[in-house]
Amino acid sequence: MKLSVIGAGYVGIVTGACFAEMGNTVTCVDKDTGKISALLAGKIPFYEPGLEELVATNRQAGRLHFTTSLSEAVAEASIQFIAVGTPPRKDGSADLTHVLNVARELGRNINAACIVVSKSTVPVGTADQIRKTIDKELDRRNVRLQVDVVSNPEFLKEGDAVNDFMRPERVIIGTDSEPAAEQMRALYAPFTRSHERLLVMGVRDAEMTKYAANAMLATRISFMNEIANLCERLGVDVENVRRGIGSDSRIGYSFIYPGCGYGGSCFPKDMKALVHMAEANSVVPEVLRAVESRNQSQKQRLFEKIRDRLGAKLAGSTIGVWGLAFKPGTDDVREAPSIALIERLVDAGVRVKAYDPVAAESARRSVPATWLKSGKLELVANPYDAVAGADALALVTEWKPFRNPDFETMKKLMRLPVIFDGRNQYDPKQVRSLGFEYFGIGR
Ligand SMILES: NC(=O)c1ccc[n+]([C@@H]2O[C@H](COP(=O)([O-])OP(=O)(O)OC[C@H]3O[C@@H](n4cnc5c(N)ncnc54)[C@H](O)[C@@H]3O)[C@@H](O)[C@H]2O)c1
Repeated sequence: MKLSVIGAGYVGIVTGACFAEMGNTVTCVDKDTGKISALLAGKIPFYEPGLEELVATNRQAGRLHFTTSLSEAVAEASIQFIAVGTPPRKDGSADLTHVLNVARELGRNINAACIVVSKSTVPVGTADQIRKTIDKELDRRNVRLQVDVVSNPEFLKEGDAVNDFMRPERVIIGTDSEPAAEQMRALYAPFTRSHERLLVMGVRDAEMTKYAANAMLATRISFMNEIANLCERLGVDVENVRRGIGSDSRIGYSFIYPGCGYGGSCFPKDMKALVHMAEANSVVPEVLRAVESRNQSQKQRLFEKIRDRLGAKLAGSTIGVWGLAFKPGTDDVREAPSIALIERLVDAGVRVKAYDPVAAESARRSVPATWLKSGKLELVANPYDAVAGADALALVTEWKPFRNPDFETMKKLMRLPVIFDGRNQYDPKQVRSLGFEYFGIGR
């Protein structure tokens, strides 16, 4: 099949490359000329394991193309994917400007019947808005074309995106059109060969499914963080509680790790959008609001622990930070707990030395330039440089190489051997026996 993918970001490039890998011809388009030039030069604008190779192979095979021209991208495609951002507005609602701009452009440029698929995470009712926007432009051109608008929310995880796309647990197709459902089934068949994983439902149902999935995951995290805070007060080790409840098959182990809060480009904004959707429809989002609010306060927990331990010595101290990405496997620092922590530390007069295996550059672009210029924040190239001369280490992102570091070397390098473990990576007994003071979450 011939496909276009509009928006060459995390979702767009992965979608384009994976469909190309299955033999389709895909053109990815983005209005960001810098991004497209980088892609044409073989560079992926973010870190995602396996993606660079996949893009390179499919470009070489002539199945994957990049352009800044939407008209060129959509000209021959029978399925047009919208994969642009839906950032939060001030009131929390999803900003649909990019999505509706693309719909307008589609209406102005398509010349044959096609399916328009929304892969962006969009509020219930957006597919209708997309359809109306396209129709308006077609009417203006006095053109009649069969255009089906389908919702196909994306569930990939940054850090494991290619794998998730190639082996999806489920593919959600929201459409009321049987022919559109058939085409989508054919497109996804190579990804779901072992057993049927495609669920066809109403467009609005599909739109809601994406939000409900993210809200459920965020709820589990916030729930566990609240339990962890209670465990701390009661002298209970939340890690034992986690194992105890995770072994219940009705609960399971996923997304019940206590920590210093969730971040990223999806959970925080999707929670806000869902809260807004509820309020706009006269449903009081009691649970959803609590999930967000627990997360906001959880992102402060590491700072509070450091402040309580260092007391009057906090200002003027040096803290090493391990991990900047909002989770391992990505260089995405959007809404990352690390940035919230560093902001509080810098405000309190602390000098921060931070290390991340891949996210240093994206952090450099995201933090206020004054932090770096003034030396309040130093991004170092080695985890041990971050702890050299430090009064404490705060572990924020659970990258694998942090699991088993050389504690002897760390102890020699640090001014004070104190560890604030924001992801409960270490065995408190073990690190204490090595002479460290240890503070975890909920233990
Ligand atoms: N990142 C994830 O892990 C993830 C997972 C599932 C769903 N989503 C959803 O997918 C959508 C895209 O997310 P993302 O992380 O890929 O965003 P992104 O910010 O990485 O990429 C979006 C791209 O769209 C481009 N764009 C915006 N307007 C355009 C236009 N008019 N024409 C062409 N290009 C345009 C931007 O330049 C940008 O490169 C969002 O709705 C998000 O919630 C993201």
